[in-house]
Amino acid sequence: MIFEQLSAGGCKSYLVGCPETCAAALIDPEIGLIDRYLGLAGQHGMRIHYLIDTHTHADHFSATRKLSRQLGAPVAMHRLSPAPFVDLRLDDGDMLLIGKLRLQVLHTPGHTRDSMCLRVADRICTGDTLLIGATGRTDLPSGDPEALHDSLFNHLLRLDPALLVFPAHDYKGRTHSTIGEEIATNQRLQVRESAQFCEMMRNLNLGMPSHLTEALRSNMNGAKTVSQMLAEAAAAVPFMSLPELMTRVQSGTDELIVLDVRERDAYEEGHVPGAKLLPRGQLELRVNQDLPDPTRRIVVCCEFGRISTLATATLRDLGFQRAVALDGGMKAWREAGFPLRAGREP
Ligand SMILES: [Fe+2]
Repeated sequence: MIFEQLSAGGCKSYLVGCPETCAAALIDPEIGLIDRYLGLAGQHGMRIHYLIDTHTHADHFSATRKLSRQLGAPVAMHRLSPAPFVDLRLDDGDMLLIGKLRLQVLHTPGHTRDSMCLRVADRICTGDTLLIGATGRTDLPSGDPEALHDSLFNHLLRLDPALLVFPAHDYKGRTHSTIGEEIATNQRLQVRESAQFCEMMRNLNLGMPSHLTEALRSNMNGAKTVSQMLAEAAAAVPFMSLPELMTRVQSGTDELIVLDVRERDAYEEGHVPGAKLLPRGQLELRVNQDLPDPTRRIVVCCEFGRISTLATATLRDLGFQRAVALDGGMKAWREAGFPLRAGREP
């Protein structure tokens, strides 16, 4: 069996493959690692047949939907997943065939109501139901401590103690454990009685994960994240470096339109000499009047170099085929000590 664990921050994802048939599945893929998954699958000569999320993640951005479109493979989740784009809704006891491997689904609600664990050969991917030395939290949307207690003590922990445990998170760099080790050493599992266990879970007082609302929005609706929007825009436009722009500004040619898409007050405080002001919020409204010649070369700048990337992509969509984004923003321009002009341009 091919079994690769990938980590992004504390989030773990898995490539599981059958070497005989070259069929594989990805479990809990994260949006920032898409190229790594595809590279790794290619390295092993694997084709990915399933994109599986063990549950609706509140703390990372799932790549299942994007990869599903790219690969033509189905997104598989528990049937209670709220995401409308799930192609394959699974139930407790279902099995997926990954070539000659058998991936067995256990419904283990508690961390979320759509949580499942995935057992394959000598191991089990426990999602956020069981972590190394901990359990998933139950205070996020659809969490339920009673359900988690039942999933753990009446299902998961009754499996073979030798079964290897591969969780969806670990913040201490550990890779895996076993059911037996967790029963023996996991502090939370020492509280076996349901009411006490629930009380402990209700009193963990954990901070909210960063990006909670964005992660839920993205994972439940398939919406794009802000960084995805930026990455897509960045992939669709060329850039110009700060020194390159500096050289061109100094040469004094009017070959280039420097388009500053910040608001007027920021622009008047200091802009690239000769830059034209067209705030991003007014771009589509004023583009015809302010930029009548679509053949002109335009370099777009903003404060940090992100909004300018989006604005450049918009300009390219509008037919300005020589629009480029400044690599960096006015903040970096100022910090580099490059020239600024205050007030309005003549
Ligand atoms: Fe989770």
